[in-house]
Amino acid sequence: MARIAEEVGTPAYVYSAATLLHHYDAVAAAFSELDPIICYSIKSCANVHVCRRLREQGSGFDVVSGGELYRAVAAGGDPAKIVFAGVGKTDEEINQAIDARIGWFNIESEAELENLIALARRRNASVRAALRVNPDVDPKTHRYTSTGKKETKFGVDLERARRVFNQYGRQDSVRLTGIHLHIGSPVNTVEPYVAAIEKTLALIDELRADGFAIDTLDIGGGFGANYKGSEAPPAVKYAEQIVPLLRGRGLRIILEPGRSIAANAGILLTRVLYRKTSGERDFLIVDAGMNDLIRPALYEAYHFIWPVRPAEGFVTNDRGVDLNRPGLRLMDVVGPVCESGDFLAKDRMLPPMDRGDLVAVFTAGAYGFVMASHYNSRPNPPEVLVEGDQYRVIRRRETYDDLLAAELL
Ligand code: LLP
Repeated sequence: MARIAEEVGTPAYVYSAATLLHHYDAVAAAFSELDPIICYSIKSCANVHVCRRLREQGSGFDVVSGGELYRAVAAGGDPAKIVFAGVGKTDEEINQAIDARIGWFNIESEAELENLIALARRRNASVRAALRVNPDVDPKTHRYTSTGKKETKFGVDLERARRVFNQYGRQDSVRLTGIHLHIGSPVNTVEPYVAAIEKTLALIDELRADGFAIDTLDIGGGFGANYKGSEAPPAVKYAEQIVPLLRGRGLRIILEPGRSIAANAGILLTRVLYRKTSGERDFLIVDAGMNDLIRPALYEAYHFIWPVRPAEGFVTNDRGVDLNRPGLRLMDVVGPVCESGDFLAKDRMLPPMDRGDLVAVFTAGAYGFVMASHYNSRPNPPEVLVEGDQYRVIRRRETYDDLLAAELL
C-alpha cells in the first residue's frame, strides 16, 4: 500500500482482483444448482477493467443507464446476459439497448412498457422483458436503499402485475416472459428474500394458469457485505433458503449482485493532512473527502478505518478492535470539503496517527468511486487494480484540465 501511495498518490481507490473474483465465485458456487445467469450490477463498481475481469469469470451485467450499457459492451459483455433496469429509461437508451440486443428489459411501469412496445415496433424488433414487481416486503435497510416496499417508486404491485400481463402479455414486439424483483440493498437477512420470492412464485403460478409462459425470474441484488464484522450472511446462507424455493420450477434464474462482490474488494487509501483539536473533539483531517466517498455523509454508513502502518502494539488484521485498549483515541475522521457533512467516520477509536500517515478506509469497493463527484472542484482519484504482487492503474487521477474539459466545448 505504501508503494502504491508513493507512486500513484492519495487519495486512491485500490481494488484486489483476487477478492473480487473470490466473491463472484462464492455467489456462483452457492447458487450453482440453479445454473443462474449472474449479472454483476455495474452501478456498484463500474470501472471497465473490473467489469472485464468479471466478464472473463462468466458474469453478465445488470445496467441501469445507457452509460452502463456502454460500459458493459466495452467490457466485452455478452449482450444476451445483460439486463436493463431503471424507472426512467429514455427513448435513446431504449433504442441503444434494442440495437445492442440485450437479454432483458426490466420494466418498471405500464407507461414504460407501452413506450418499449412502440419503440420496438418502430425498429421491427422483438425484445424480451421482465416485469419488475414490488412484493411489498420490508428489507430492513436504510430508507434510501429500500426498494421492495409498496410506497417506493420501483416496480408495480402484485395485483397490478396481473393486469399488466393481461393487457400487454400477448404480443410479439415485447415478449413479456419474466418477472424481476429487487427488494433493497444491503439486505442482511434472508427472510425478506424468502417472503418476496414466495409471493412472486404465487403470482407466477397465477400467470401460468392464465396462459402466460413465464420462463425467467430475476431476483435482483442486495446481498450484504461485511462493513463492521460479520453482519452479512455469506452467499451460501442466502442460497440455502432461496435455492429450495426455486428448484424444479422451470425458471431461468438471474441474480444481480453488486455490493457483495465489490465492496470488500476495495479500499480508499488516504493520507493524514493534519490533526486538530476543537473543543472536546479530536479531528484527523485526511486528503479524501465526501466527494471521493459519500456513503458516510449520505447514509451515515460505517466504514472501518485503520492506519496502513499502525504504531507499535496496534496491529490488527480484523475489525475486532478492542475499544478499551489504552492509547486509542476518540476521533472524527474528516475530509477537506467545505461542509460539516464531510466526514468519513465520527466518534471512532483510533491509534495515534500523524501528518503523512496512510489510512485505509475499508469496504469502499462498492458505491465508492462510482458515487464520487467533483464537488469543491476536486479531481476524481485514480483506481488501482492489484493482481498478485502487481498493480495497475485502471483509471488515472484526473487533472485540473479534466475538470474544465467539458466546459470548453
Ligand atoms: N439490481 C437492482 C435493480 C438495483 O437497484 C441494485 C442496487 C442492485 C441490483 C445491486 O444491489 P447490490 O447487490 O449492490 O446490493 N448507493 C447505495 C446502494 C444503492 C443500491 C441501488 N440498487 C449504497 O452506497 O449503499
